[in-house]
Amino acid sequence: MQPLLQLQGIEKSFPGVKALKNASLAVYPGRVMALVGENGAGKSTMMKVLTGIYSRDAGSLRWLGEETTFSGPKASQEAGIGIIHQELNLIPQLTVAENIFLGREFVNRFGRIDWKRMYAEADALLKRLNLRFNSHKLVGDLSIGDQQMVEIAKVLSFKSQVIIMDEPTDALTDTETLSLFRVINELKAQGCGIVYISHRMKEIFEICDDVTVFRDGQFIAERPVKDLSEESLIEMMVGRKLEDQYPRLDQTPGDVRLKVENLSGPGVHDVSFTLRKGEILGVSGLMGAGRTELMKLLYGALPRSKGRVWLDGREVTTRAPQDGLASGIVYISEDRKRDGLVLGMSVKENMSLTALRYFSHGGALKHAAEQLAVGDFIRLFNIKTPSMDQAIGLLSGGNQQKVAIARGLMTRPNVLILDEPTRGVDVGAKKEIYQLINQFKAEGLSIILVSSEMPEVLGMSDRILVMHEGRSGGEFTREQATQESLMAAAVGKQHSEDLVV
Ligand SMILES: Nc1ncnc2c1ncn2[C@@H]1O[C@H](COP(=O)(O)OP(=O)(O)OP(=O)(O)O)[C@@H](O)[C@H]1O
Ligand SMILES: [Mg+2]
Repeated sequence: MQPLLQLQGIEKSFPGVKALKNASLAVYPGRVMALVGENGAGKSTMMKVLTGIYSRDAGSLRWLGEETTFSGPKASQEAGIGIIHQELNLIPQLTVAENIFLGREFVNRFGRIDWKRMYAEADALLKRLNLRFNSHKLVGDLSIGDQQMVEIAKVLSFKSQVIIMDEPTDALTDTETLSLFRVINELKAQGCGIVYISHRMKEIFEICDDVTVFRDGQFIAERPVKDLSEESLIEMMVGRKLEDQYPRLDQTPGDVRLKVENLSGPGVHDVSFTLRKGEILGVSGLMGAGRTELMKLLYGALPRSKGRVWLDGREVTTRAPQDGLASGIVYISEDRKRDGLVLGMSVKENMSLTALRYFSHGGALKHAAEQLAVGDFIRLFNIKTPSMDQAIGLLSGGNQQKVAIARGLMTRPNVLILDEPTRGVDVGAKKEIYQLINQFKAEGLSIILVSSEMPEVLGMSDRILVMHEGRSGGEFTREQATQESLMAAAVGKQHSEDLVV
């Protein structure tokens, strides 16, 4: 089959980093090409070279059979290549419709902007994606998931021949993901070619026809998905066999560290649970079930309306995140892009930001200690960066993630809350993160693991709390918990005999 688009032998260097060396990719009409590889393998860079955001150092690009170079994103867009970037690129102060048609506003015959048409067309796009908000809404008022859907609506509005999706489902609910998949199938039927970048194996096997594997900036293989198993694909990605994806650590937990009684607040009603030293409590539930709200209440980012919290037997009131931090409760946000990292600052600064009090002595910063600790975490987490002074915005998405987690651990918390810690992280690095979590568990740290990934919760937790519509939908021991029982509790179909009393 003649590809719509073909990149061959692409090379691209940044100061201190060779991001692409001999990378190739083809996109075929009516097919979805998965692009996979570890964090920092060069996937996003390849897409930026393709769309003309970066110039290539070497290699060729053929578009509809002709050798081409796009001078920039506008040129590639006009040629018929649409891209949904890994980072959101919307303007929060503008409405959904204004964002979608930014720079391409319809003009009526009087030379004025035809707002009516613009909002109507935007609404039609939202409808096609099954979205319930209308296009007059300000983007800044939307959830991250909905913002991601607006990005998707925007790319659809260009009517492109090739559409690139760089980790599009990271912030989406299951229903939103299904809407996206339905649209992908429509696009396929129209003959569009799609590049689908994701770390989610399940999605690759569900929606993709072919897969291209990158490792360390190089092309490794292109295969039809139907010829592969999950194991063989992972092996191609990481270059070795990866056994036992969830290395659970069995140990008897210690004393009760955290006790939560009838905690209530925005989106959360009467939730109670305990957490012991050296224990992992998984928190499961559908998106919007109040998991993140519960965590924010716990460490003080949301106001409590009711309920009590004890830490090591002492009652704590957390009214602000600093209170949580002072009590040793650390929360690592699911939304690291918004309230996590400072993109202009270095890896080192980002990592030690909240832990600075450990590195200061009488007002002076102990630089050597800071450097040592940061260096340790870079090695432990296998963070890909030319140095600790690199601006964090220049790291690949998954590597930024690892810095955010390292930062939480650096404050040496008593209770560590990890909200979707492995979202956007590659399979190999996921396992590294699990092993680290275990190491901290062995040292007696109490961990709350909030995750939408069922196998992750099942594989790592000692106990599991399922949230349903802001309430506890049930609590399960490791032995009781199965995919089915958790799902039933998440949708509120809990049988009373499954409840732990
Ligand atoms: N503008 C830049 N300046 C310096 N280094 C960069 C820049 N963009 C990317 N890199 C580096 O190039 C390498 C490849 O990054 P890229 O973002 O393409 O990875 P990726 O495969 O998309 O990873 P992920 O799965 O984590 O998103 C990384 O080491 C990254 O730090
Ligand atoms: Mg990327």
